[in-house]
Amino acid sequence: MNEKKSVLVVGSGGREHTIVSAIARSPSGPEIYCAPGNAGISTEAQCVDIGGEDIAKLLEFAREKSIDLTIVGPEAPLVAGIVDLFESEELKIFGPGRGGAQLEGSKIFCKEFLCRHGIPTAAFEVFDDSESALAHVNERPLPMVVKADGLAAGKGVIVAHDRATATEAVKDIMVARSFCEAGARVLIEDCLSGSEISIMALTDGTNYLPLETAQDYKPAFDGNEGPNTGGMGSYSPYYSLGDPLVQDILDRVIRRTVEGLAQEKLPFKGVLYAGIMLTEEGPMVLEYNARFGDPETQSILSRLKTDPLAVFEAASVPGGLENLVLEWDERDAVCIVAASEGYPGSYEQGIPIEGLEPTNGDAQETGLWVYHAGTRLGDSGEILTAGGRVLGITALGEDRDAARAKAYEALGSISFEGLHSRSDIGLTMGN
Ligand code: AMP
Ligand code: GLY
Repeated sequence: MNEKKSVLVVGSGGREHTIVSAIARSPSGPEIYCAPGNAGISTEAQCVDIGGEDIAKLLEFAREKSIDLTIVGPEAPLVAGIVDLFESEELKIFGPGRGGAQLEGSKIFCKEFLCRHGIPTAAFEVFDDSESALAHVNERPLPMVVKADGLAAGKGVIVAHDRATATEAVKDIMVARSFCEAGARVLIEDCLSGSEISIMALTDGTNYLPLETAQDYKPAFDGNEGPNTGGMGSYSPYYSLGDPLVQDILDRVIRRTVEGLAQEKLPFKGVLYAGIMLTEEGPMVLEYNARFGDPETQSILSRLKTDPLAVFEAASVPGGLENLVLEWDERDAVCIVAASEGYPGSYEQGIPIEGLEPTNGDAQETGLWVYHAGTRLGDSGEILTAGGRVLGITALGEDRDAARAKAYEALGSISFEGLHSRSDIGLTMGN
């Protein structure tokens, strides 16, 4: 069977463009579809007009096209059970089933899971009515962290340094239901201090394989000022994989998580993404995501030398990672996000993007990628903004400074009205 394989990538952001680009460089030359994709993705894959949340339609499409492998980018379809649905029809798919995706879909499930398996995390309490949550806010020491249980597009976590903020957070989440049913329950937990690191590992349910590390920059402005965003940039490597700290996290967090999931019959295939605080008492888990980080993926996958399609396929089969070794480009990667004015608050869309042509070289040769995050094609084929994070300009260099210089130089040729980026990506620490 030497037929061309067909791959469907689900999602429309910078992470999905990165995955599409990685698959496109597979020597096996697969046929790639992306649902729904964006303007940049449409240059490397056939975009299909089906939203990530429409899992029944995605299944119909995958069946119709006999898709060999589906790769799910965002969390919502995972939590909605896309993997269970595809697997019930014997379609191969990269990502955890609904049960495993609860690690991200319910912060309370995640915390209780961590406790059951002796994985270090901040002490917490769970509330399902606002009165007891508010009473608790008045009693406990400051600072404290209030979290909506369910998915809240990265906005459901409030680090409160005073009681008024914590009270406001509880009311906003539980009474005003700003995040709808995601706010039916809240967690109130101890505030940890230290620096943050994210560790991502592929797992096939039994084996795990760490990905190279990356650092993400969440605050909107230079010097880590301003509101938190989905991420304004990233660089890789951060820590080396051989670093004792990383090994410790792999052993105390990732290994125990993979074993715990298997024990609880929640086999998890795909990416485990652990957000960790390095505290004085050692690494503690802040959260789990059940998918690749965005924009960490832009920096990490740009460095992957092993055939990316083979990697995704291996992680989609129980035990498939057994003999896989990942090879990485020794060079450093830096990704700078170009965002819309006003992001992470409200912003305009439909603004023309100029100056993309000079960056349109063969990325494999130039070591420069302009990953599209929020773009769409206008009526005459022009590229327009269509999201808060618009582009992720990603470059490889002999060291981080060289990668950074190359990415900023490329960014310099790109413009759209209101373009906002940080000027210190790769220069200062993220969080
Ligand atoms: P999460 O979505 O749970 O990772 O939270 C988002 C961000 O909130 C994290 O990256 C941390 O910066 C912060 N955060 C979450 N939980 C805590 C905690 N217990 N203590 C201090 N900061 C936290
Ligand atoms: N960059 C953080 C995330 O993907 O959740």
